[in-house]
Amino acid sequence: MKLKDKTAIVTGAARGIGKEIALALANEGANIAICDIDKAALEQVKSEIEALGRKCLIAVVDVGKSGSCEDMVNKSLDKFSRIDILINNAGITRDALLMRMKEEDWDAVLTVNLKGAFNFTKAVCRTMIKQRYGKIVNIASIIGIMGNAGQANYAASKAGLIGLTKSSAKELALRGINVNAVAPGFIQTLMTDKLTDEQRVAMLKLIPLGSLGKPKNVADLVLFLVSDASSYITGEVIKVDGGMVM
Ligand code: NAI
Repeated sequence: MKLKDKTAIVTGAARGIGKEIALALANEGANIAICDIDKAALEQVKSEIEALGRKCLIAVVDVGKSGSCEDMVNKSLDKFSRIDILINNAGITRDALLMRMKEEDWDAVLTVNLKGAFNFTKAVCRTMIKQRYGKIVNIASIIGIMGNAGQANYAASKAGLIGLTKSSAKELALRGINVNAVAPGFIQTLMTDKLTDEQRVAMLKLIPLGSLGKPKNVADLVLFLVSDASSYITGEVIKVDGGMVM
């Protein structure tokens, strides 16, 4: 087990990619603190993590609220004494063409997807600096690299997350902390279930490997980025998109 006795925080872990990452980390031996806004679903993930023999802390946290993020980090420290890994995964979409995009939808997406990652990175970094050890992985998107009509808010949030990744990687490198981003393409989750059949067919034509990705494809890359096998990698943005953007 590559992550025995390590502690990880995963945000937005009640379902989809976040849940898959939390279970993958637990499977490698890590104890896990997970947060989300969906308490019932968090309870279910907790029981799956405990069934693997790991400890699990759950917290209902809106990642856009800095105080709640700090509280969760403090509770995780009380329970586990250290925080080795942070996965900033919580994310939302509120799609509309720019001309029709409501200010509140711009603000909501930027707050969850970008400020949420800032809140948690800031809250864990003192502990990671003291430990002289930390792995932070931000779940960005290929949309943050290539843009997308109807997703100006989402693209801006994910491009911002890439900027946050590179800046925090530079600030924290000499403190023993690696910060990287993963940029998934189209992965089968509730987020992409919203696509129409027409959109899905159009999307598949753009993917050389010929299928949508699975949450496990993202979790496998995250496992590599939090392991010692990637210790000389920081500030990187790695796509997991079936070859869609090259
Ligand atoms: P999802 O919608 O299935 O899961 C997102 C989770 O975040 C949910 O459990 C939700 O309750 C939680 N969440 C939402 N707002 C929150 C808040 N304010 N505070 C805490 N938790 C909150 O989405 P999925 O597909 O699992 O996405 C996970 C991440 O991967 C997101 O950051 C998303 O942008 C990114 N991503 C997903 C892709 C896809 O094709 N599914 C592609 C590229 C990136």
